[in-house]
Amino acid sequence: MPKVTIDGKEIEVPAGMNLIEAAKLAGASVPHYCYHPKLSIAGNCRICLVEIEKQPKLQIACNTKVAEGMVVRTTGPKVEEGRQSVLEFILVNHPIDCPVCDQAGECKLQQYYMQLDRKPSRMEEEKVQKDKAVKLGPNVMLDMERCILCSRCIRFCQEVAHQDELCFTQRGDHTELTTYPGRELKNPYSVNTVDICPVGALTSVDFRFKQRVWFLKTADTVCPGCSTGCNVRLWHNKGAAYRLTPRENEAVNQVWMCDEGRLTYKPVNAENRLRHPVVKRDGRNGKMRRDLAVAELKRSLEGVSGNAILGIGSAQFTNEANQAFLGFLKDILGVKDFVYHANEVANPSHDVFLISADKNPNRAGVEALGFKPLAEDRRYQVFFALGPLPFSKIQKIAFEKNRKVILLTTHEVPEIEYADFVFPTAAWAEDEGTYTNRQNRVQNIAPAFPPPGESLRVGQWMEEFDKAWRPALKGMTA
Ligand code: SF4
Ligand code: SF4
Ligand code: FES
Repeated sequence: MPKVTIDGKEIEVPAGMNLIEAAKLAGASVPHYCYHPKLSIAGNCRICLVEIEKQPKLQIACNTKVAEGMVVRTTGPKVEEGRQSVLEFILVNHPIDCPVCDQAGECKLQQYYMQLDRKPSRMEEEKVQKDKAVKLGPNVMLDMERCILCSRCIRFCQEVAHQDELCFTQRGDHTELTTYPGRELKNPYSVNTVDICPVGALTSVDFRFKQRVWFLKTADTVCPGCSTGCNVRLWHNKGAAYRLTPRENEAVNQVWMCDEGRLTYKPVNAENRLRHPVVKRDGRNGKMRRDLAVAELKRSLEGVSGNAILGIGSAQFTNEANQAFLGFLKDILGVKDFVYHANEVANPSHDVFLISADKNPNRAGVEALGFKPLAEDRRYQVFFALGPLPFSKIQKIAFEKNRKVILLTTHEVPEIEYADFVFPTAAWAEDEGTYTNRQNRVQNIAPAFPPPGESLRVGQWMEEFDKAWRPALKGMTA
């Protein structure tokens, strides 16, 4: 491995590494716009200038590889002056509309201006004006004036999504980003271009103008959209989720996620979230206090044998939720038979990169716990399930007269009308625990905020049930 000296620090770095990455290893940071570690090198923004001993001119760090004995300075008057000139050049035609720009607060142009320059503009000429709100595709908007022509988005489409959708047209300061004639930016990963755009030129149709980013808090979690389990960051404020962005995990999703997965936060905010237990009495559903509903459930299951109950886990819930459910039903109610239901989608999207046809985040986990796939079975009187018991043959049987249905679920879906007991549970964004993805990797999910109303996590409901049943059990054994 070659030895290089960066800002006076001698380090060994892998051969072939560029100076931006080598500087990181030496604890230094080199500003960059066009460079992205997962894309080819374009070398067009020129902000990454560094000084290399024995070389008369400043060099761009992104396109310079380490060499034995190289001595590099990432700071100093010459480097700073060079970068300031580049920044001034980039800003010549930039509209500086930060107050109304969605990228404000996470914009590299703002960040480097504050770090490197902080001087007023010397521009006296009129700036070149371009279109401000161009819809490139269903999920991405372009502000042409803000584009610094770094080409990251173009390279992403070509090299990661493998779709030639974006290109530059015109010349000089009239150069514009656009889609090829007759094409749209609509590959299944298109919103990653918004993440990697270093400025506010590309914004997400879903997220733009919803929140200022400095009001948002984050929770590091896992996308529930499919069995890939992309590592994501959930951005939220005051109990509402606003967006998902990918987190780096080289072994799962590298640094990307799909557009479909980005929208999985929406049901968490939905109006039809369940907030109270619902209990059927005299054929009518009504809200009931948590403790009363638990007591009512206990009364209704008195004398029911465990053999008459079918436990239905869910590939949509965490390992911990399924485990707690299994434990209570087995140990306290004496249930012997357990199956699981999964979200089965007709013609599911899928590809060879990230998107899995299995739209369940935890099928591998629930199977490892011993739940069997759901099958038609008429032997049971009571159907005790995690989730809404979606359309399936078992649903028809469960909703027959004289059978009892108990659900722990998140939303007021039509099926709950047929249920005898419904207990509101935490949705994925409010839950903690693990999912096991299709590679059998067990990954943590973290709660962003508490669940609404009287909702509890499945494990907490099982504790409530346990507390209600235990005294009676003690009485029986005394
Ligand atoms: S839109 Fe953004 S990512 Fe694309 S070229 Fe312009 S500045 Fe770069
Ligand atoms: S590929 Fe699957 S896990 Fe990854 S973001 Fe898309 S839906 Fe979510
Ligand atoms: S980051 Fe090196 S030239 Fe753009």
